[in-house]
Order: sequence, then structure tokens, then C-alpha cells
Amino acid sequence: MDHAATTPVDPEVVAAMLPYLNGEASFGNPSSIHRFGREARAALDAAREKVAALLNAEFSEVYFTGSGTEADNLAILGTLRAAPPERNHFVTTAIEHHAVLHCARFLQTQGYTVTIVPVDSQGLVSPDDVARAITDRTALVSVMHASNEIGTIQPIREIARIAHERGALFHTDAVQTAGMLPVDVRALECDLLSLCAHKMYGPKGAGALFIRQGLKVAPILHGGTQEREKRAGTENLPALVGFGRAAELARERRAADATRMEALRDRFIAALRDAAPGVHLNGHPRLRLPNNVNVSVEGVEGPTLLMNLDLRGVAASSGSACSSGSIEPSHVLRAIGLPDDLAASGVRFTLGRGTTGAECAQVAAIFGEIVAHLRR
Ligand SMILES: Cc1ncc(COP(=O)(O)O)c(C=O)c1O
Repeated sequence: MDHAATTPVDPEVVAAMLPYLNGEASFGNPSSIHRFGREARAALDAAREKVAALLNAEFSEVYFTGSGTEADNLAILGTLRAAPPERNHFVTTAIEHHAVLHCARFLQTQGYTVTIVPVDSQGLVSPDDVARAITDRTALVSVMHASNEIGTIQPIREIARIAHERGALFHTDAVQTAGMLPVDVRALECDLLSLCAHKMYGPKGAGALFIRQGLKVAPILHGGTQEREKRAGTENLPALVGFGRAAELARERRAADATRMEALRDRFIAALRDAAPGVHLNGHPRLRLPNNVNVSVEGVEGPTLLMNLDLRGVAASSGSACSSGSIEPSHVLRAIGLPDDLAASGVRFTLGRGTTGAECAQVAAIFGEIVAHLRR
């Protein structure tokens, strides 16, 4: 029940990767001129083609990175560094992943100005608020496609248009939506879009940044000429081959998976509410990721609930995996205005391709028993 943290690698992805790990297909370096290198290059090109197809992007607009975090860093730091000096302002939102928010914090230490736009109680960003935040100095606006914590889906195209009207570029973090919602860079009208493989049944350590043709983005890693001089370092060929296969599978299965998960999600939310009184759904009731269920449970500490769920064999999360372990309530639950007690009681369940209705029913029953026990 924690597919937003990471997904299992699809067996077909494993099968595609293996020949690039055991050398049967190629163990070459894609930059080498000899036969082994050329075979590796062909595999890398094929993977890029598949990720581009998932995004409705051109082959040459996809740049591979080592993670979603790196794609976000390249998008934000790279764009701000390449912008003319008079464009030194960055606009983002209060509910972004730390991969974006900590870039914003770093930019401030480097003399850039940053505006953080708030969200409403359901986690929605208002396009009007973004419009008010943009100035003639804004280089880039970054708003995530959907929240990894509360699942709220943002009006990306509307916000992209507002950014463009004011001469700013637009980036979206689609790490949670690629493979889950249609992620068409032309329909979303974005200039930059981040995604990664390990949230869509691919391996960890493989990410990508879509950069619209002709856009200037300065590299953040310095070294070789890989990824058309945007990302130095030998490409992780087996992982990227797996990313390509995962993107192909996502194109085939996404719509059916999403429809099935949406029905499962809504039944699961109802089952959690039936299982215990005082359960509040966080995030938007309709504009939400098909697999996301985030609830606050009155009178219960989130980490205690999580530990008890784990003891009963249920893996859930108290927000983003990166911030669990810390006792601070999630910045996202705070940003939607939850009082401290409800923010500290947030638990996130995220369904996956393999989650069944029977599993959801079982988890809801276990959840009810634990909540009753903890309230005693
Ligand atoms: C919305 C979002 N952005 C970025 C990331 C970071 O991706 P990665 O784990 O590939 O660095 C995550 C991962 O949880 C995420 O959910």
C-alpha cells in the first residue's frame, strides 16, 4: 500500500534489462565507437524513443538523468542559470516535493528570489495566485502535476499558459503521474517535465527530463558530453533500457489500470471511514491520483499507526518516504491548513497495478482494529 514511494519492477522490465546486465545483449558504453558501444547506443536510443512516445515528445527532447530528483534539479537550477541576468525569480508552490523545494531554498542562497505560492484546503494551486506571483523578472514557474502525498491534480495547462503570457518558462514534476495519468507535454503546454522509472514499475536510479526543443538549460554536472552536454556521466544502460520498457508498458496499460484503481480507491476510502470514526480524507475528493488515499485519523499519531500497520504486514506511509522517520508533520498537510493534531495523524495508502479489492478490504479491517486499540 505504498506504491507512491516506489513500485515493484515489472517482470517484463526485468526481462528487458537482464541482457544488458549479463552482457548477452551488450555491456558496452554508449559513447564507445566500437561494436559493443554501438550496440549499447542503439539500446539507449530505443529507450529514449519509448520514453518520448509516452510523453508525446520528440526523441531529442528527452534527457536521461539518474533520478526524478536530478531531473527536477536540472530543470530548475539549469533553467535559472541559463536565464538572462534580469530574469532571476523562481515561482513554485508550498506542496512540492523536496526535490523542488530544496532547489528553491538553494537558489535563495545564490542570490535568486523565490516566491512560494500557497494552496487551498484541498491542495489545489490557484492559477490566479500564480499569476499574482509572476513578475517581469520571473524565469521559471514550477508546479507539480499531482501531489505525491495527497494526490491532488493541478490545473497544469492553465498555469503553463499564465507563465507563458508573462514570458516565463513552465516546469512540472510529473514523477507521480507518468504512467498514471496522460502525460502529454504538448497538451500540458509545459517547457520542462520530470519523471522517473521507479514509480512506474521500472528500476530505481533512472529518470528523465523533457526539455522543449531549443530551450536553454545549463548543465548541473560537468564532465563528458553525454546527453547532448546536458548531463555528463556514463548512462546507466540496464536501468534506462528498463525505463524504456516500463514506459512502453505504461502506454499499453495506463488507462485500464487507472480506471480499475479509481474504483478500488473510492471503495477503500469508504471502507476506511466505515472501519473507524473520525477519519478525514486529505486532498481533493475528485481531482486526485487514481491510486492515492491520504487520511488523518482523529486522536491517533500517524507514526504509531504506521508501526502497528507494519507489524500486521501493511506497508503504508506518513507522507513522502523521504521525510518519514522525521517527527515533523508533513509540509503538505501543513500547507493545506490542517491543525497540528490532524497533520500529525496523516497516513498515506497508495495502490498499485497488483493491488486487489480483497487486499484493500483486509487492510481496512486491520486499520479499524488498530485505530480502536490505539484509542482505548
Ligand atoms: C513528486 C516527486 N518528485 C520527485 C521525486 C524524487 O524522485 P526520485 O526518487 O527518483 O529521486 C519523488 C519521489 O518520491 C516524487 O514523488
